[in-house]
Amino acid sequence: MAPSMLKCDFADLADEVRRLEAADAAMLHWDVMDGGFVPNLSYGAMVIASVRPRTELFFEAHLMIADPAKYLDDYINAGCDAITFHIEAVPEPQPLIDRIHAQGLKAGIAINPKTPVNSIRGVLSQCDLVLVMSVEPGFGGQKFMPEVLPKVQELRSLVRPGTAISIDGGIGPDTIAEAAAAGATWFVAGSSIFDQPDYAAAMRTMGSLAEPHIR
Ligand code: DX5
Ligand code: ZN
Repeated sequence: MAPSMLKCDFADLADEVRRLEAADAAMLHWDVMDGGFVPNLSYGAMVIASVRPRTELFFEAHLMIADPAKYLDDYINAGCDAITFHIEAVPEPQPLIDRIHAQGLKAGIAINPKTPVNSIRGVLSQCDLVLVMSVEPGFGGQKFMPEVLPKVQELRSLVRPGTAISIDGGIGPDTIAEAAAAGATWFVAGSSIFDQPDYAAAMRTMGSLAEPHIR
């Protein structure tokens, strides 16, 4: 499970990270929003950098920003392990993928619910991770859009082995199994973890619902 930090208690960030570590989170998913590419503003590289010394968990920055090329170095320097940016923001993604790889990080490309797989077909072999948005990006707590699942299936048949397929938005006990069955391998979840009193139990439940379906 990849907890979406958008939903955590920022007044107690270090404690949240400790709780997620204790609950066996696979990574931390940092949702970065610029108030332009999406109609919401979250946090930036400074916040991620401040948490970096507190944990060895894998950090993925999900950049929902209009100009990821301009700010890329900030997220690299903040200690991210993977950087995911949107094809809708960067129609020609190859140079950015190359810059991410040149720093030894994993490169991810995200597609919005209405964006076809075809838009990233040309660079799929270069990506370590493809993130399929299952809500319109910008806010946590939205309803899962099952209509994106055929894209997950299509991606599964196109990516080379070892490429992660991440599903992001509205993932919870009611939706995770169908996402896994379609071919997702990384599961980003905000509300369904942070709205629960026991993060470990919430992640365990979702993990066990997904596990039999992961291919
Ligand atoms: C939405 C973000 C997601 C979101 C997940 O723009 O990319 O990571 O916060 O939150 P839930 O799980 O509540 O949909
Ligand atoms: Zn996200």
